[in-house]
Amino acid sequence: MDRRLSVAPMMGWTDRHERVFLRGLTRHTLLYTEMLTTGAVIHGDRERLLGFSPLEHPLALQLGGSEPQALAEAARIGAAWGYDEINLNCGCPSPRVQSGRFGACLMAEPGLVADCVRAMREAVPAHVPVTVKCRIGIDDQDPEEALRSFLDAVAAAGPAAFIVHARKAWLEGLSPKENREVPPLDHALVRAVKAERPDLVLVLNGGLGDLGAAMAAAEGLDGAMIGRAAYQTPYCLAEADARVFGATTPVPGRADAVRAYLPYVAERLEGGAPLNALTRHLLGLYHGCPGGRLWRRALTEGAQRPGAGLGVLTEALTRVEEARARAGLPSAA
Ligand SMILES: Cc1cc2nc3c(=O)[nH]c(=O)nc-3n(C[C@H](O)[C@H](O)[C@H](O)COP(=O)(O)O)c2cc1C
Repeated sequence: MDRRLSVAPMMGWTDRHERVFLRGLTRHTLLYTEMLTTGAVIHGDRERLLGFSPLEHPLALQLGGSEPQALAEAARIGAAWGYDEINLNCGCPSPRVQSGRFGACLMAEPGLVADCVRAMREAVPAHVPVTVKCRIGIDDQDPEEALRSFLDAVAAAGPAAFIVHARKAWLEGLSPKENREVPPLDHALVRAVKAERPDLVLVLNGGLGDLGAAMAAAEGLDGAMIGRAAYQTPYCLAEADARVFGATTPVPGRADAVRAYLPYVAERLEGGAPLNALTRHLLGLYHGCPGGRLWRRALTEGAQRPGAGLGVLTEALTRVEEARARAGLPSAA
């Protein structure tokens, strides 16, 4: 599994539609699902929760849970469903997750996490890696100590990689959103741990604002994971295949990414998906460049029109590309 670049699991954002859209920008970046709890995977509507398009590979399923047997069962289901990796969430600070004693509170229970990883690995075929996404500590833990002891204890269970969101989670007093912004980032700590423990496969996450930042941050590590920037400004991934993975395919333009997405949109609309669910992930495509406002408006207003269909997207694209041509911008820019 090539982990040099990945897009973070983001609940409400990285759904199957968004992931197909991102594939129009990058073929090789590893994508993650939103977190799914073991209960949902085991008892829920699997087609709705786990279904994905073959276009989305390489694709990792992120699980939330803390019971080794339930995680093993959910991992087995995920691997059978065709996911390329199964990831355990040890970083989510939401109160809902804390009441289930999983997510970031697992940072305080490395022994249990090791048991979970062991059970998950035994449940999936050897070619499906099991990985862990964690923080550098929680609450009053000292990250210098907490991260090292967490990684050492869990590494004994043989996960294929750790993705470290390089800030603490404060489980009391901060909202999940604040927990992605307020606790300070400490990339240097992750780097130091990698230097001491070169055998650990460590991917850095947190605050990487674009591809250049991710590539610089991955230096000396095994990869970088981009979260919010990949969603809010997805075009930052357009050069990933060329610059990170050495692909020789041409860098797609914004319009190319939309056109590549159109057949999928048509198919999902046919299947009854609402247009807005398919277009909302595209709003940031022209972010910060000429046509950006026009694009957002055309998509949001268009998607509200009664009977709105594929034409909203093709019309928005035509209008934006015409405006950009008038401003002298090449369509592939
Ligand atoms: C809307 C949103 C939802 C998220 N949901 C998850 C999740 O389901 N699982 C997870 O491990 N992290 C989740 N995260 C955290 C991200 O995966 C990532 O660790 C965090 O945003 C830091 O990376 P960034 O600074 O590049 O955004 C979420 C983040 C956002 C913004």
